[in-house]
Amino acid sequence: MKREIIITADGSTSINLPELNEQYHSKKGAIQEAYHVFIRMGLDLFSENVSVLEIGFGTGLNAYITFLESERRNMTVNYTGVEAYPVIPEEIAGLNYVSQLKAEVHRQAFVDFHSSEWEKKQTISDKFFLTKRKQFFNDMVDDNAHDLIYYDAFGSGVQPELWGEEIFAIMYKALKQNGVLVTYAAKGSARRAMVAVGFTIERLEGPPGKREMLRARKIIE
Ligand SMILES: C[S@@+](CC[C@H](N)C(=O)[O-])C[C@H]1O[C@@H](n2cnc3c(N)ncnc32)[C@H](O)[C@@H]1O
Repeated sequence: MKREIIITADGSTSINLPELNEQYHSKKGAIQEAYHVFIRMGLDLFSENVSVLEIGFGTGLNAYITFLESERRNMTVNYTGVEAYPVIPEEIAGLNYVSQLKAEVHRQAFVDFHSSEWEKKQTISDKFFLTKRKQFFNDMVDDNAHDLIYYDAFGSGVQPELWGEEIFAIMYKALKQNGVLVTYAAKGSARRAMVAVGFTIERLEGPPGKREMLRARKIIE
């Protein structure tokens, strides 16, 4: 499927799928959205070692800002990114996250994210470990393995099967007890599917341009 680089409202790049009119991030600002949904509403809940699972590694933006936060907070992160359709070198070359985030000293880390081998745990820094898995979300069998899930699938208009009970049961199983899933989405049907598989849900203020987003917790009494 055709993919093209676009510039979002905060100046950061994203990828657009013209045939579906679907983007990898909010057109109102890719970096802005990523920080709000995944860092402020997700990573901020944790203070020590954390295992993060990303659903849809894509451009690596969420992984990269998590890496920058691990440096800033001196926090150890084991990061797993699952992705069935990796970005290609020409696309990576068009992404402006390092300059937009003023992270020139960590440019190499962004390069390493994309050039590193798949299916093997890679050491990006002494605090950040990345495992990229080329896999379909439905084939995941992670069990009680992660503290935090960044659920960053395409929207339900494009991939409704990624917002129902079957996939959220896989996510629930993947989380440790008291684990947390955050997503930019707020749709009632997605929320109900999460509740049906056992999650406890909070509706939170969304990123710019979106009223709400969801945070789901695996709380076992
Ligand atoms: C909204 S984009 C994710 C953006 C990514 N988090 C980023 O920051 O660039 C959704 C991602 O899920 C991937 N994807 C879509 N369907 C998938 C599936 N069934 N299994 C695995 N990956 C899938 C897409 O290739 C895309 O990279």
